[in-house]
Amino acid sequence: MVFLQTRLKVGFIGAGNMAQAMIKGMIQSGNVSPARIYVSSRTSQKPQKLRELYNIQVCTNNEDLVETCDVVILAMKPQDLISAVEPIARNFNEKQIVVSLAAGLRLETLEKILPQCRLVRLMPNTPALIQKGSVGCLVNDDQDEGLADLMEDMFACLGSVHRLESEDQFESFMIACSSGTGFVFEFMIYWQDWLEEHGFDTAVARRMTQEVFTGAAAMAVQNSDQSLEEMQGKVTSKKGVTAAGLSSMRELEMERALRLSFEKADLRNKEISREMKTR
Ligand SMILES: NC(=O)c1ccc[n+]([C@@H]2O[C@H](COP(=O)([O-])OP(=O)(O)OC[C@H]3O[C@@H](n4cnc5c(N)ncnc54)[C@H](OP(=O)(O)O)[C@@H]3O)[C@@H](O)[C@H]2O)c1
Repeated sequence: MVFLQTRLKVGFIGAGNMAQAMIKGMIQSGNVSPARIYVSSRTSQKPQKLRELYNIQVCTNNEDLVETCDVVILAMKPQDLISAVEPIARNFNEKQIVVSLAAGLRLETLEKILPQCRLVRLMPNTPALIQKGSVGCLVNDDQDEGLADLMEDMFACLGSVHRLESEDQFESFMIACSSGTGFVFEFMIYWQDWLEEHGFDTAVARRMTQEVFTGAAAMAVQNSDQSLEEMQGKVTSKKGVTAAGLSSMRELEMERALRLSFEKADLRNKEISREMKTR
């Protein structure tokens, strides 16, 4: 583990949901000691609470945190990021690693504000909150292998880290894995509703739904030598019940509907990105 061998100080600007999940993951995995984790935020309640919970270090302002830490994680909402970083951009040094979690903010935009830093775009999806995430990672210098390795080690505590090669790949990852988590919940809602309409009470219908989704996913994980089509084939006998349902899904062009939804999400993402640039 590269990261464990370093004595790097890691700072979070912003102490909300994602910062809390990352701090919890880092401490529980033993990846970073609390003495080397710093946090600053707009108001003091969340940092103080984190200090009580994990004995981490609190900085009273963002400048102090930037001057103390080797890795600075920008963990505020995208719309707050530029106004928070621009006024203190000179406080960052050229060795500093800056990790942005913001959707819609391309590295080239961040590079204009912090040209001296080693920059990373990171996208943990919501299951990262329970250390079951898919984490997309893009570094601004593709020759900087050391940085990509370091990031992989550092964020393995949130789930599986995927090194991405371009902003386009990053955006696609975000749609499929980050927004994708929301899309999967949409399907789960339909499943639960259908079961409730057929007489199951809410708690049972929900449990059954969870089991179908986690069960299918766990089987896919355990049989990674088989394609998903092969696995689907094994639960589908010719002219049987599952085949009838699948045939209807295909007639109704569910795939087309889903593709259009992914594309709509992608368009919205591009729109947000443009709005960020013009701020
Ligand atoms: N939550 C997720 O599942 C998820 C998934 C992927 C990516 N992300 C990304 O992670 C980032 C954080 O999201 P979140 O859900 O953790 O947001 P959040 O819960 O709203 O937390 C944002 C934090 O930023 C702080 N903040 C705002 N302006 C600040 C400033 N000028 N200086 C210092 N701190 C400031 C807020 O402070 P106050 O509390 O004092 O207002 C708050 O602690 C976003 O870019 C989001 O897109 C989140």
